Amino acid sequence: MEKFYITTAIYYLNDKPHIGSVSEAIAADVIARYKRLRGFDVFFSTGTDEHAQKIEERARKEGIDPQEFVDRASSVWRGIFDDFGISYSRFIRTSDKDHIEVVKHFFQKLYEKGDIYLGTYEGWYCVRDATFLKDSELVDGKCPICGGPVQKIKEDNYFFKLSKYQQKLSKYYEEHKNFMQPPHRYNEVKNVIESGLQDVSVSRKSFKFGVPVPFDEKHTIYVWFDALLNYLTAVGFLHDEAMFNKYWPADLHLIGKDITRFHGIVWPAMLMSYGLPLPKAIFAHGFWNLEGQKMSKSTGNVVNPSEFAKNFSKLAKISEKASIDVLRYYLTREVTFGQDGNFKMETYLSRYNSDLANDFGNLLNRTVSMLYKYFNGEIPNGEIDPEAKGFIENEKNKYFDEMDNYALSYGLEYLWNIVGYLNNYIQVKKPWTLKTDRKNLANVIYTLLEGIKVVTVLLSPIMPFVADTILKSLGTAELNSNWGTLGKGHKVDKLPPIFPRIEKEKINLTTKKEEKEEEKEMIEYDDFARLDLRVAKIIAAERVPKSRKLIKLTISLGDEERTIVGGIALHYNPDELVGKKIIVIKNLKPRKLMGITSQGMLLAATNENEFSLLTLDRDVKEGSKIS
Ligand code: MSP
Repeated sequence: MEKFYITTAIYYLNDKPHIGSVSEAIAADVIARYKRLRGFDVFFSTGTDEHAQKIEERARKEGIDPQEFVDRASSVWRGIFDDFGISYSRFIRTSDKDHIEVVKHFFQKLYEKGDIYLGTYEGWYCVRDATFLKDSELVDGKCPICGGPVQKIKEDNYFFKLSKYQQKLSKYYEEHKNFMQPPHRYNEVKNVIESGLQDVSVSRKSFKFGVPVPFDEKHTIYVWFDALLNYLTAVGFLHDEAMFNKYWPADLHLIGKDITRFHGIVWPAMLMSYGLPLPKAIFAHGFWNLEGQKMSKSTGNVVNPSEFAKNFSKLAKISEKASIDVLRYYLTREVTFGQDGNFKMETYLSRYNSDLANDFGNLLNRTVSMLYKYFNGEIPNGEIDPEAKGFIENEKNKYFDEMDNYALSYGLEYLWNIVGYLNNYIQVKKPWTLKTDRKNLANVIYTLLEGIKVVTVLLSPIMPFVADTILKSLGTAELNSNWGTLGKGHKVDKLPPIFPRIEKEKINLTTKKEEKEEEKEMIEYDDFARLDLRVAKIIAAERVPKSRKLIKLTISLGDEERTIVGGIALHYNPDELVGKKIIVIKNLKPRKLMGITSQGMLLAATNENEFSLLTLDRDVKEGSKIS
């Protein structure tokens, strides 16, 4: 079995978990669960970074021992990770005994090698980020990372000969273009290496909470030197040779964009100095902001993920576990992984209502209620529709490709293509018209259930709790995305609507819409006559790549052909559109949708549950005017 070792950064304990920091653990968990699904032997480590100067200060303020402080704070993090389904293999703490041994050993080795030497550091230090800073790096005299105050320090420190590794690092980057991802982070770090590296301080004398330098106990090993080594300890370095040889090097270090230099420069140089293989890849994700503002504890602009999930569960009337899954879904779906994201209640609600309540929830509810209506809730002895299977397998492979490249949001888009397809499958097959054709009815319902199972299994890395509930009710606890695994005859649990729409939002939106409609109510004939409405014949239709909703149509207006783009992919398959005569607005200003210029707009009738293109009652030739 191929192994996959994934890590998150380890978290400082001076802050409580917020949505931003938890988002990294969630992303790592999505990848870990996805890799398990694909048959990898996954080791997933996360944990807490405890030896910070700030901790010593905080504990002193509270009048408690720093160790007591970190024990308490670390268990808060671990508790939240457990609640959020973070499926770590090891929750490492830098105060763990085996880790402290690793840090001492590693420091000693580099010292013996001549790569660590005693010198004097004079410059700035940011306690919050535990970072040494040069004059030129300060922004308005403050830390460029957190914007907080910096201290001027002058003390004897041990230094690591980072400069010695500049050439080697440069060459390594040249030969390993995927070492740091996404590509713009690779370029950024490579440029820093090429602009010259200085030796870095790796010990502090002015505080004690941490690992002492083994041969000079007046010094405490610098928190970053200590923290980076967690990646080795977690998989048994020095303590379990077989395990270490199996999992090291790490396949993926997942980190935020603020700590690329420690991971992309200092860490590989430390490993080179010791003589260990380097991690295969480092992926730096972006930052979550809150309603457009930087998340910051000092300004109170943070969201506590547990409280948020609890409150949302009450609002949506769903379980807390389902609500946690909604949050996991939103964080994964809302941004292209690697870029910054803006956490906004408005988009949160609309994602919930459209993707989860309308698309996925409806599919499930409609299918299960038909199963009850026609088969008393028992999975019928039907056959899988090869056409549906073909479409879904195709989208599934695209989902695999995206997930393999950590393009998590695109992966979800392909899953939603399957959801859209299955919703449309119900519209097209109209099971309610097949009551007398039991064989066909069984095939349709069975195909829907199998399709739902495939989608749910593929969704399980992102929404593990909801997936588990659905799969259990379908009678399969197994995470198997192959076809034909459902037990025929199994009675499916009648679940309450999985994601009920949030009415509160609907009421608000309806009010707004109604006001607008009133304003528009009376128009003159001339207003209507300004619209050039025509009959158009669809000559060709294809899905717009990477879009869930859009279809590109080539239409004929009799004397000319045009391209129009319509948001109908959730309701129609391209194949069934060709040949249809529809109504379009001819004189609408062209506009670009996903890079394609749409020259006009098609008309459709729609409400919350139904959708139909406007077609003709009798055949009329294309290009004819509508008046
Ligand atoms: N302890 C160091 C990491 C040592 S790893 C050997 C540290 N800790 S941290 O608690 O400040 O940050 C932990 C991770 O959370 C980092 O990868 C950081 O980028 C990430 N995030 C912190 N705030 C974040 C957001 N607002 N959004 C997304 N990720 C965020 O740095």
